[in-house]
Amino acid sequence: MELMPRQVTDYLNELVPPRPPRLRAMEEQAAESGFPIIGPAAGQFCYLIARLSGARRIFELGSGYGYSTAWFARAVQEAGGGEVHHVVWDEALSREARANLTELGCADVVRFQVGEAVAALEASEGGFDLIFNDIDKHAYPDSLSVIERKLRPGGVLLIDNMLWSGRIFDAADHSPNTEGVREFTRRITHDPAWSCSLVPIRDGLILARRN
Ligand SMILES: C[S@@+](CC[C@H](N)C(=O)[O-])C[C@H]1O[C@@H](n2cnc3c(N)ncnc32)[C@H](O)[C@@H]1O
Repeated sequence: MELMPRQVTDYLNELVPPRPPRLRAMEEQAAESGFPIIGPAAGQFCYLIARLSGARRIFELGSGYGYSTAWFARAVQEAGGGEVHHVVWDEALSREARANLTELGCADVVRFQVGEAVAALEASEGGFDLIFNDIDKHAYPDSLSVIERKLRPGGVLLIDNMLWSGRIFDAADHSPNTEGVREFTRRITHDPAWSCSLVPIRDGLILARRN
């Protein structure tokens, strides 16, 4: 279900500044294959939040072929350099991401890892400025405690698909992914460790501060 009128979605995407041909090609690839990338309006929002917060150490859970990573990598480069962790359990996607980010001139700040993303975050040093979560939705609730430990106080969490194409409003939908989005939302909005807001760009992003 499209929650936002198509006219508004198109308008938000049109307002995104011109971007490199490779990033546009990645958008076309998603449109053709149906691979779920965050898209231009959410990408620009993520980039802006990273720039505004001055993030230089970013961890991305559930990366794809490098689209969302590219927005974060650009922000980190502009902030003077740092690291963006790209983690996906699919080796072919990781290889594709490396090629895309190399072409975009961003690979120098990206660290590629193949594996389960929450376990990779758990094993990391932590102290991240920003964490972006886009893993399978049923795994969202269990990821929160790990994120809380690995994000520095005052750090930023961005988590995608918090409107889940409207399935969260369907009282008959108790699928694990839908319940995962509902439960994650309930936990983070009731936990004094977090201040957050749901931004209804594309499929809904929660923007949260770790207090
Ligand atoms: C929604 S797509 C990522 C899109 C990416 N954020 C973008 O906008 O370009 C999520 C990807 O992460 C993978 N994935 C899902 N859960 C994961 C997990 N727990 N650990 C590692 N990879 C995961 C999926 O197979 C898929 O390739």
